[in-house]
Amino acid sequence: MERTLSLIKPDGVSRGLVGEVIKRFEDAGIRVAAMKMLKMNRQQAEGFYAVHKDKPFFDSLTGFMSSGPIVAMVLEGEGVIEKNRKLMGATNYKEAEEETIRRDFATDIEKNIVHGSDSPETAEFEINYFFNRFELVI
Ligand code: RTP
Ligand code: MG
Repeated sequence: MERTLSLIKPDGVSRGLVGEVIKRFEDAGIRVAAMKMLKMNRQQAEGFYAVHKDKPFFDSLTGFMSSGPIVAMVLEGEGVIEKNRKLMGATNYKEAEEETIRRDFATDIEKNIVHGSDSPETAEFEINYFFNRFELVI
């Protein structure tokens, strides 16, 4: 069974969208296999987004991602990486399809409510970044 990492970013948590996002996953038949709320420090956000370290938006992004609590989840299901990306919508909410999380709630290209792994390789790295093997037994 495929797994992916989902994050509800600080804007999603502070705006009270945790329940709404989880409901969309559950309605789509996606299983939440693990979940926790935490706050990253700057260094942890930089490690998570290391692939973007040369991008012009890296400082702003890691500052934002360490600005408040986030909810980290492991989602499970057939084709869940792609399914989750579809539910999220495009990075830029203005280009996101209707009824996607980002189209419905994002306010900014950076403050776009959710993160989702984009491949099996990144899913493995990202799940292990937040969850240890004892938290993934279910
Ligand atoms: P994510 O990694 O958060 O799931 O989003 P994504 O794959 O759709 O987008 P990605 O290209 O990986 O970018 C990661 C996050 O960086 C912020 N971003 N800001 N200012 C900008 O031009 C810009 N571009 C990207 C967004 O928060 C994006 O989700
Ligand atoms: Mg990405």
